[in-house]
Amino acid sequence: MKKERDWSGLHFGVDYYPEHWPRERWETDVALMQEMGIQVVRMGEFSWHKMEPREGEYDFAWLDEAVSLLGRYGISVILGTPTAAPPAWLVNKYPEILPMDRQGRRRGFGGRHHDCQSNPVYRRYVEALVTAMASHFAENPNVAGWQTDNELGNSHGDLCMCPSCRRSFQGWLEKKYGTVEALNQAWGTAFWSQEYNSFEEVFTPLVTVTGENPSAMLDWKCFCSDLVVEFQQVQIDIIRRICPHHFITHNCMGFADKVNYFDLTRPLDFASHDQYPGGYYGKMPFEDNVRMAANLDMTRSFKGQSFWIMEQQSGMTGWQIMGRSPVPGQLAAWAAQSVAHGADCVVFFRWRSCCIGTEQYWHGILPHSGRPGRRYQELKDMIGKLSPHMDALWGSIPRAQAGIVFSYRQEYAIQIQPQHPDLNYVTQLLKYYGELHKRSIPVDFVEDTGELSRYPLVIAPLQYLMTNALAEKYFSYVREGGTLVLTMRTGVKDEHNICMSDRELPGVLGDLCGIEIPDYDCLRDVNVKVSFVGEKEDGVFFAEKWSDIITLLGAEALASYEEEFYAGAPCITRNTYGKGVVYYIGTEPSQKLLEAVMNRVLADAGVSGIGSADEGVELNIRQKGQKKWIFAINHTNQEARYQISDGAGCKLVSGEKEGLLQPFEIHLYQKE
Ligand code: GLA
Ligand code: ZN
Repeated sequence: MKKERDWSGLHFGVDYYPEHWPRERWETDVALMQEMGIQVVRMGEFSWHKMEPREGEYDFAWLDEAVSLLGRYGISVILGTPTAAPPAWLVNKYPEILPMDRQGRRRGFGGRHHDCQSNPVYRRYVEALVTAMASHFAENPNVAGWQTDNELGNSHGDLCMCPSCRRSFQGWLEKKYGTVEALNQAWGTAFWSQEYNSFEEVFTPLVTVTGENPSAMLDWKCFCSDLVVEFQQVQIDIIRRICPHHFITHNCMGFADKVNYFDLTRPLDFASHDQYPGGYYGKMPFEDNVRMAANLDMTRSFKGQSFWIMEQQSGMTGWQIMGRSPVPGQLAAWAAQSVAHGADCVVFFRWRSCCIGTEQYWHGILPHSGRPGRRYQELKDMIGKLSPHMDALWGSIPRAQAGIVFSYRQEYAIQIQPQHPDLNYVTQLLKYYGELHKRSIPVDFVEDTGELSRYPLVIAPLQYLMTNALAEKYFSYVREGGTLVLTMRTGVKDEHNICMSDRELPGVLGDLCGIEIPDYDCLRDVNVKVSFVGEKEDGVFFAEKWSDIITLLGAEALASYEEEFYAGAPCITRNTYGKGVVYYIGTEPSQKLLEAVMNRVLADAGVSGIGSADEGVELNIRQKGQKKWIFAINHTNQEARYQISDGAGCKLVSGEKEGLLQPFEIHLYQKE
């Protein structure tokens, strides 16, 4: 009897495209995979035409052959549904499945994701293919699970504005608002004569002559996210029904914004992520390491559980132009970083650099020649080192000390009106994240509907859209003893993206923060000097991008402006409320200012890191029951040192010398 949805023994894999290579080569590849410790292969996610060369004619024989060859070498398979690449026969027959961009142009065939995800005809073909594929592989003992489509939302930046999406959008709005009067009210359509007499009059947001309605845009972005979630659900329903023994996952892309990943991953067995630390064209400074760490923590946060990497960088990146080459040791350190943040399995993209198509320069473990070289050896060594511990690590995650609130709605609203031209939601969150990361404090990203009380510290930047329910959540979190950080642009708008007018900023949260903000300044091309009130702090501090000109109503001022017409006004405040403390940071603090404020925040919250380390060294923890594993990873090409705070009982199980890392070295400790 097959065990249901068991993937616990799979830890390292590769993405493989047998259809790109002669049949005679396959076995050489598979033997090399086995030799390097590969246990799982993902395949199929772009090969619709190979599986259905003509309408209704399914051919899985080639894939059967690849699956059984891998099986003979003890390697399991994840099948990707190939719906990211509809074939030419389908597009020619139904050109209306091609997506329409904001200019109203249909995009052409020849890339990928040239599909409209609401189109009913397209959905029928997707359903038929997924049904055939799932039925064919349901009982194949070598198939472990499925990946739906590929990077849903990718390449869909401003798609799709077609008539089918218009009808879907109208239906979505009708379900949300019930009456067109309610829609007009919520969108503030009295402005510029935008009233609608019926839902059928509403457009998709094609490019306008000038300006757009922020409320309509917010609903549009949320609709697009829901559409992608629904598109995936169609496939999930089929696979669940036909293949109850298999797991289902999807490869997300960290902070990509097209689809709400909390929603997208909810019906999945686990979340997966595609991790390319070299960036798309190879920028690799330390700050990117912070973003990479954050990507991984974000992925873990989608479902609050360990996850997979479905594509881990395995060489230089590039399509038309290329990035720098990862230096010896770096690929292994990046892969270990994924494990350290909670990956149970790391699948490398790709097995071999491709000789055909768009991605000829997106390098694989093997070079074009197919001869194993330094990347093969390096990753093989890393797999050999971590493999003995992966079964035990399975399912463990850090117990995060801090939660950073992440909301796609807030992000969308800030994208629609950034206010300051350089204000970016994710970048803003990552500033705070970076402060925790460099102090080795484990962090979760938490939805604003999620449970806050499990974190001693919650940081909620840019709480721009506010509802009574969300405000109450922050009140009760602090009342019960939490330490909360709120920032500039909080409580500005209601849930429909309309400015609130009943109180001064930050609205009802003013009572929690003990402040009021009757005036503000947008800092265009200027920073404003700030100083700490009372206690002396070393350094020169600046407010960047924004100044909230704060009036104290019970809070204490921590820092105040030194320049401009508001010199002397508070810029950062601290208030006690109930059993807790709330900070309000009325600006984007310069690096030094943020560092100084965070020192105080962390002291209030009683939060400290798992250790200290030289710059470029990352410390991470994974926990399961009473067991703990601590990782130290050197992301630099220099020797580096670190120290674990509560090292008592820790034993080094992988690595040579405690506290001292060679370039790109990885240490792993275990504690019962
Ligand atoms: C993405 C995709 C892959 C491949 C790589 C490299 O992450 O999922 O199919 O395109 O990027 O470009
Ligand atoms: Zn469409």
